[in-house]
Amino acid sequence: MKTILVTGATSGIGLEASVTLAREGHKVVLVGRDEAKTRRTVDEVKQRSGSSNVESMLCDFSSQASIRAFAEGYRAKYDRLDVLVNNAGTVNEHRTLTKDGIESTFAVNHLGYFLLTNLLLDLIVKSAPARIVVVSSAGHYRGTMDLDDLGFEKGGYGIMKAYTRSKLANVMMTRSLAKRLEGKGVTVNALHPGGVATSIWDGAPKWSQPILSVVKKLVLITPEQGGKTLSYLATSPEVEGTTGKYFEKNKQKGCAPLARDEALAEKVWVKSAELVKL
Ligand SMILES: NC(=O)c1ccc[n+]([C@@H]2O[C@H](COP(=O)([O-])OP(=O)(O)OC[C@H]3O[C@@H](n4cnc5c(N)ncnc54)[C@H](OP(=O)(O)O)[C@@H]3O)[C@@H](O)[C@H]2O)c1
Repeated sequence: MKTILVTGATSGIGLEASVTLAREGHKVVLVGRDEAKTRRTVDEVKQRSGSSNVESMLCDFSSQASIRAFAEGYRAKYDRLDVLVNNAGTVNEHRTLTKDGIESTFAVNHLGYFLLTNLLLDLIVKSAPARIVVVSSAGHYRGTMDLDDLGFEKGGYGIMKAYTRSKLANVMMTRSLAKRLEGKGVTVNALHPGGVATSIWDGAPKWSQPILSVVKKLVLITPEQGGKTLSYLATSPEVEGTTGKYFEKNKQKGCAPLARDEALAEKVWVKSAELVKL
C-alpha cells in the first residue's frame, strides 16, 4: 500500500484518479481548498472505491503561505509520501495577481507544483522508491517563456498564453527535477490527460461557453478516461524507473523543443525558486 497525495482532487481528473487509486488499495490523501466540498469528495471517493483509507487536507495553491502551512501539516500527520500527484490547475480569463503578487495562472499551475514538491522532497526521497506525477497539458507545445515578463505584465496577456506557459513550465520542472533526483530512487514524469470534459473549462470566456458545451459532448473524453494516464504514472509497474518523460494515453511522447532546452529550464527553475523564496 502506497501513501498517495493528490492535489486538485475535488473535481475532474484528480477526483477520478483518486477513486482508481483508492480502489487499488492505496491510502489516498485528497487535497481540496474548500472544506465542505473536500468533505463531500472524501465521502464520494470512499463510497465509489469501497475503501475507507481516504483522508483529506486543505490548501489554496494561489497562496504560498497556504502551501507552506500545508506542507508543515502534512509532515506533522504523515511520516511518508510514496506518490505526489501535482494536479490542481486553473485558467483565468483576465490577468489577475495572487496575494503574493504573481500572475495567478503561473502561480497556481506552476509555482504551486514547484513549491509543494520542493517542500516535501526530502520526505519523498526518504520514502523511495517513490514517484512524482506532474499533470501538464498538450497545450505546453504552444507555450512561450519570457523570463523578464513571466506574468505578462508588459502586455499581451491571454487566457491560453498564460495557461500554455504554465504547462510548459510543468514539463521543464519535470525534466529539471528528474536530473536532480538521479540515483535517489524517485521518478518524476509529466502527462497530458487528453481533452477532458471537466470544470476547468468554466473559466473560459462566457462567449465561448455554448461552443464549449458542444465540444464537451462531441469531442472531449470523460473525467474517468482523463484520469487514466495519471493513475498509470502513479502506480503502474510498467513505468517503474522511468523518469523525466512526458506521457499521453499511457505512452511516452516527445515534449516541445522549448521544454527540452535545458539551459532555459534551469533559468526557469532558478527564477521559480526566487519567486517562492526557496
Ligand atoms: N480538462 C482538460 O481537458 C485538461 C487538459 C490538459 C490538462 N489538464 C490539466 O488537468 C489538471 C486538472 O484539471 P481538470 O481538467 O480536472 O479541472 P477541474 O475539474 O477544474 O479540477 C481542477 C482542480 O484543481 C483545484 N484547484 C484549482 N485552483 C486551485 C487553487 N487555487 N487551490 C487549490 N486547488 C485548486 C480545483 O478545486 P475546486 O474543486 O475547489 O475548484 C479542482 O479540484 C489541471 O492541471 C489541468 O491543467 C486538463
